[in-house]
Amino acid sequence: MKSAIIACFLCFLLSTAFTSPSNAGDTLTPRQPISDDGSTLTSDGGRFQLGFFSPVAGSPDRYIGVWYNISARTVVWVANRGRPITGRSGRLSMSENGRLLLTDGRSSTIYWSSSSPALVEPEARLLESGNFVVMENGSDPSSSAAWQSFDHPTDTLLPGMKLGWNLSTGLNRNITSWATSGDPSPGDYVAGIDVAGVPQLLVWSGTQQFWRGGPWNGIGFSGIPVMRQGNALTLHYEFASNSDEAVYWFYLESSTLLSRLVLNESGLLERFFWSDPGNLWVPLGVAPDTSRNPCDKRVSSCGANGVCGPRAPTCTCLQGFRPKNRRSWDDGCERDLPTAGCRSRTDTFVTVNNTKLPDTSKATANRSMASLDMCRDWCLRNCSCTAYAASNLSGNGNGCLIWTSDLYDLTLYDNEEAGQDLYVRQIESRPLNEGLSTNSLLRRASAFIIVSVILAAFLLSLLSCWIWRRKKRSLYCDEEETEGKDLDLPLFELNTIAEATDNFWMNNKLGQGGFGPVYKGRLVEGQEIAVKRLSKTSSQGVDEFKNEVMLIAKLQHRNLVRLLGCCIQGGERILVYEYMPNGSLDPFLFDDTKSVLLDWTMRRNIILGIARGLLYLHQDSRLRIIHRDLKASNVLLDKEMTPKISDFGMARIFSGEDTERNTRRVVGTYGYMSPEYAMDRIFSIKSDVFSFGVLLLEIITGRKNRGVYHSTVHLNLLSHIWSLWKEGKVMELVTQSIDHSLSGTEVLRCIKIALLCVQERPGDRPTMHSILKMLDNDNALEIEPSQPGFVDFRGHLDPTNSSIREQDLSLNYVSMTMPEGR
Ligand SMILES: *[C@@H]1O[C@H](CO)[C@@H](O)[C@H](O)[C@H]1NC(C)=O
Ligand SMILES: *[C@@H]1O[C@H](CO)[C@@H](O)[C@H](O)[C@H]1NC(C)=O
Ligand SMILES: *[C@@H]1O[C@H](CO)[C@@H](O)[C@H](O)[C@H]1NC(C)=O
Ligand SMILES: *[C@@H]1O[C@H](CO)[C@@H](O)[C@H](O)[C@H]1NC(C)=O
Ligand SMILES: *[C@@H]1O[C@H](CO)[C@@H](O)[C@H](O)[C@H]1NC(C)=O
Ligand SMILES: *[C@@H]1O[C@H](CO)[C@@H](O)[C@H](O)[C@H]1NC(C)=O
Ligand SMILES: *[C@@H]1O[C@H](CO)[C@@H](O)[C@H](O)[C@H]1NC(C)=O
Ligand SMILES: *[C@@H]1O[C@H](CO)[C@@H](O)[C@H](O)[C@H]1NC(C)=O
Ligand SMILES: *[C@@H]1O[C@H](CO)[C@@H](O)[C@H](O)[C@H]1NC(C)=O
Repeated sequence: MKSAIIACFLCFLLSTAFTSPSNAGDTLTPRQPISDDGSTLTSDGGRFQLGFFSPVAGSPDRYIGVWYNISARTVVWVANRGRPITGRSGRLSMSENGRLLLTDGRSSTIYWSSSSPALVEPEARLLESGNFVVMENGSDPSSSAAWQSFDHPTDTLLPGMKLGWNLSTGLNRNITSWATSGDPSPGDYVAGIDVAGVPQLLVWSGTQQFWRGGPWNGIGFSGIPVMRQGNALTLHYEFASNSDEAVYWFYLESSTLLSRLVLNESGLLERFFWSDPGNLWVPLGVAPDTSRNPCDKRVSSCGANGVCGPRAPTCTCLQGFRPKNRRSWDDGCERDLPTAGCRSRTDTFVTVNNTKLPDTSKATANRSMASLDMCRDWCLRNCSCTAYAASNLSGNGNGCLIWTSDLYDLTLYDNEEAGQDLYVRQIESRPLNEGLSTNSLLRRASAFIIVSVILAAFLLSLLSCWIWRRKKRSLYCDEEETEGKDLDLPLFELNTIAEATDNFWMNNKLGQGGFGPVYKGRLVEGQEIAVKRLSKTSSQGVDEFKNEVMLIAKLQHRNLVRLLGCCIQGGERILVYEYMPNGSLDPFLFDDTKSVLLDWTMRRNIILGIARGLLYLHQDSRLRIIHRDLKASNVLLDKEMTPKISDFGMARIFSGEDTERNTRRVVGTYGYMSPEYAMDRIFSIKSDVFSFGVLLLEIITGRKNRGVYHSTVHLNLLSHIWSLWKEGKVMELVTQSIDHSLSGTEVLRCIKIALLCVQERPGDRPTMHSILKMLDNDNALEIEPSQPGFVDFRGHLDPTNSSIREQDLSLNYVSMTMPEGR
């Protein structure tokens, strides 16, 4: 925010330094040069201007550049960066063959020039994209540019402008920061695409790597997690890597929006959006972002095979490695078992979750590999392969990256949606076994003894359990059996669960929820179960936990996932649920291949089911449960595609009943959180109603309401739908698998209900009870929804910092007064 204010102050300075320009069209020809008398070129639609300027008001230093022709004029390109003309004698002209020349009228010194393209009848035109193009008179600038400013960027990437290499010509487009805010000469930092190994985004400081944005993962750069939440509706990121080019670019769906990416003087990449009503550039994201990933500072801070993160910037070694030098991480880590060789068939891999992928300058990609298993195979067969990962996270594309060297600059994110899994080769040949993995031979020996003892104890307990089971069919959660009569919740042994899940084998992992990973398991009797291994952040004692679980086990409804039992043992807290063969709802909504399976009837049944389940939680059960994390991935589908809400009561387990105490932990998912919950931690059944509304819109449109919000532009589904709703065009957004002709009015009615659910004021939102009535009823809905509540994503980053929140809220306010139709 501060930078926006500074930027705007700068804009102000800049604008005072311009003299009022006279318009000379958009074209420069050999007969029509531009002098520093206020003449400018203005692009066809008026968005950009080219002319002379001084970055600091009153300074005699003059530059030729291109700027946004908006109230806060913003320079995006400078020709003579390091060589200003002193005084107003400058002249930009064109030679007969099409070479641009910047000269000082008095001395005829050449301050800057473009290449000589040898054209017959040349002209240079300032395009509406901001590109200044030299070409043959009258030809098409997009195909026949002989020279273009987009190939010689300054510090700014505009929509449609490419960063990176044309490999056939060797043209390398990179951006270089200004020296200072008042001096456009080349600064310390350069950002570009490095094509060694697998192409990566890099920022250099001089000849040193300053920061690594990492390889492209199909959605964004591995090191810029915010791109993953970026927006399918408005802002599109693209990357091409083939034998012709290795380039990144972005574009905007709507030509009325302005956005730019700048490498600033501190070496940070900042993205801005222009807010018309606010008359200012609003920062949307920055990379590297040390507030989200403290490790994201400089390259290789933990040395070879070291891992940084996820929270404090601390180094550890990868599993199977140990520090080379106890005093310094610069030396990194080496293999535990230096003598062991590679076994191309039996070596195993350990999964490192949520990573920014390590340096790929020595990696190799095969983008056409169709599955991770093939990738693993490729790595196994090559003895120098140390790790592998998917190269493409978008859609169901996979691709394969393998590393054949030590791993550098590997960092972990603490946000589960940010990173990606890396599979690191373990030289030892043994099954993956978390609990028993040991490093040295000595420890292995002692572990062996311990294991034998545990095994003996386990067998003994199995035996006694078997005897006891013959007397009684099930074990009860309460340890004192005599008091357990009315409680039907079995208490599972850790051993039983370990056995059922192959010792929590990673291949059995179904997913990772907010409260811990979920595994698929099969009991000895054959019943399939889903096992949720709770993370250890709960402060609850064993008794409190048991009480909560038993309360929750009593909630039984057709649209809630059934809890089968629990396990509290050895510091583990585990919940055992019935297994849902169809998995969660989200792939059915967002995967192109699966979404065609859901027609409107099925979608309507799913909506009704979720509503009934939620009503039961809110009102019909003995406990009033606020779910607090309702989202597509928390709705599971059984064989008949009946929706079942999962993870209900988790917020209760983790925080107890005292709502005031919960202020330290936000439970929930950006995108589904109501504004009052996200901003002020106020939750009620109406915050669940908000999430339900978002889910409803996702079910109808098949589009995800992403976690990045911005008030000033249509960056999320809610605001997009809201503006289409007001224009009466909302049916445009309805997913293709819904047949409009059959179900149009019903769908429209559901959208209206959804919009009622996501209204800004909790008091305006209906209860689940009235929502069900509205869904069940065919009568026209009299009530009209008001403005949805939008959440500003950045408000979450530091919720204790009220000043940031105030700023963001005021920006939100700006957006609400924004004229429609943009
Ligand atoms: C751009 O500049 C010209 C000339 O100063 C002005 O007439 C025009 O209104 C501007 N266009 C926009 C879109 O601001
Ligand atoms: C460019 O070509 C058009 C016709 O194609 C002609 O009218 C115009 O005068 C030419 N401009 C210059 C600068 O030669
Ligand atoms: C690379 O540059 C050449 C020459 O300008 C051009 O013909 C070619 O289309 C460019 N390749 C790509 C992939 O843009
Ligand atoms: C940036 O691009 C220029 C021009 O192509 C090139 O000379 C320079 O080496 C590049 N810098 C880096 C760090 O890639
Ligand atoms: C560069 O961007 C960061 C992040 O937005 C900001 O904190 C910093 O002040 C900027 N540096 C300059 C010199 O503007
Ligand atoms: C990439 O993988 C596919 C599928 O395994 C294989 O057919 C192809 O030859 C591989 N390409 C290269 C360059 O190794
Ligand atoms: C292993 O992979 C690397 C990188 O693709 C390659 O250079 C090397 O030749 C491969 N080694 C073997 C034994 O296949
Ligand atoms: C990634 O996968 C998606 C979906 O399969 C595909 O459309 C896209 O082209 C792939 N991207 C790359 C870089 O291979
Ligand atoms: C990654 O996830 C798997 C499966 O949940 C788990 O077994 C493993 O411990 C995790 N690895 C790390 C380093 O957290």
